[in-house]
Amino acid sequence: MAGDESVADVGALLAAARRVYEQSYGGEAQVAVCAPGRVNLIGEHTDYNQGLVLPMVSGKLLPLVTVIVGSSTSGHSCSIETITESADEPRRVDFDLPTESSPLTRGQPAWANYVKGVVQHYRAQPLPAFKAVITSSVPLGGGLSSSASLEVAMYTFLQQLCPDDGDKVAKAVACQKAEHTHAKVPCGIMDQFVSVLGKEGHALLIDCRSLEATPVPLTDPNLVILITNSNVRHSLTGSEYPSRRKQCENAAAILGKSSLRDATVQDLENAKDRLDSVTYQRAQHVIEEIERTAQAAEALKKGAYQEFGKLMVESHNSLRDLYEVSCPELDVLVAAAMEVDGVFGSRMTGGGFGGCTVTLLQADATDRTIKHIQERYSGHPTFYRTTPSEGAWVISPVEN
Ligand code: GLA
Repeated sequence: MAGDESVADVGALLAAARRVYEQSYGGEAQVAVCAPGRVNLIGEHTDYNQGLVLPMVSGKLLPLVTVIVGSSTSGHSCSIETITESADEPRRVDFDLPTESSPLTRGQPAWANYVKGVVQHYRAQPLPAFKAVITSSVPLGGGLSSSASLEVAMYTFLQQLCPDDGDKVAKAVACQKAEHTHAKVPCGIMDQFVSVLGKEGHALLIDCRSLEATPVPLTDPNLVILITNSNVRHSLTGSEYPSRRKQCENAAAILGKSSLRDATVQDLENAKDRLDSVTYQRAQHVIEEIERTAQAAEALKKGAYQEFGKLMVESHNSLRDLYEVSCPELDVLVAAAMEVDGVFGSRMTGGGFGGCTVTLLQADATDRTIKHIQERYSGHPTFYRTTPSEGAWVISPVEN
């Protein structure tokens, strides 16, 4: 297909990681694991409001994944090396296993904080020391949650060295905690949840209040889920995400609710004179987006793609106008996609301020959609044709 980004398959990622492992540490890595990034179809900025989200992961046919290979080792000192990190940060870190009196703390390089956070919040003991190598095909900062895929891959790796109770939801929560404490991002649960519990051939309707997930089939061969990476990243992300979260919590408190999940449009309307206009807009987005997500899951179950697509565009417009997390590049990508015959819907996906859009379209419209977007977008987009696959898996288990 014209213009497609070629992504290394899991075998190629694995071979590269094994090679670096041998060069750096000598010998063969005992264990290899893999965890996918996240593609959110709809339900944006609703997870930390206890709302609904409808993501999937792309792990098998087009792997947007993080791979970790490694082995346990004696002593207390762990070593971990990344192949992927492009920033001019050290690629290797060494640290001691945490103890009660000296927990792992944040530091440099930044990428290692995700690893340290997961080690710190791992749910079984005693963890052995380890040496490992990380590589990934999830574009960094692309809104496809490279961070959750790293956390979940790391957790999956540790499960091989020191098995926990196997509770998958608890695993996702531990990885989310790692992001809160060690990356200092107050994220919701969506990314880690779907990276762990993603299901082949399905999107997951996740209720972020009960942490229950309903798989929604997504295997129609005439349908394509196309990711377009704008390849721009605006620096606002770091400060704007926590501020959105605070605005939502304020709105819920003013409405007398424990979260915006419990609020209706009518509640919001009734409280209009007690909310400033920005807080009102943020809450309106969240309340309506939760409803849209429920409707979208129903539409998908019925194969009502036109309806699903319409909800995607409404979601995008709301993220642009009410939640104010889009950017001109994402708006152009969505507008361009919507001009093509055979496209059902398109929207930004992930936290916003750059990164990717997700577009639902008829399979036979894929080439012309890519071509049209390339003509309309002045930047350098990359494209991924994704298929829903399973969450984290073990490639080579530890051998007893
Ligand atoms: C980031 C966070 C998620 C979610 C999305 C927005 O990806 O990690 O928890 O809040 O933004 O929907």
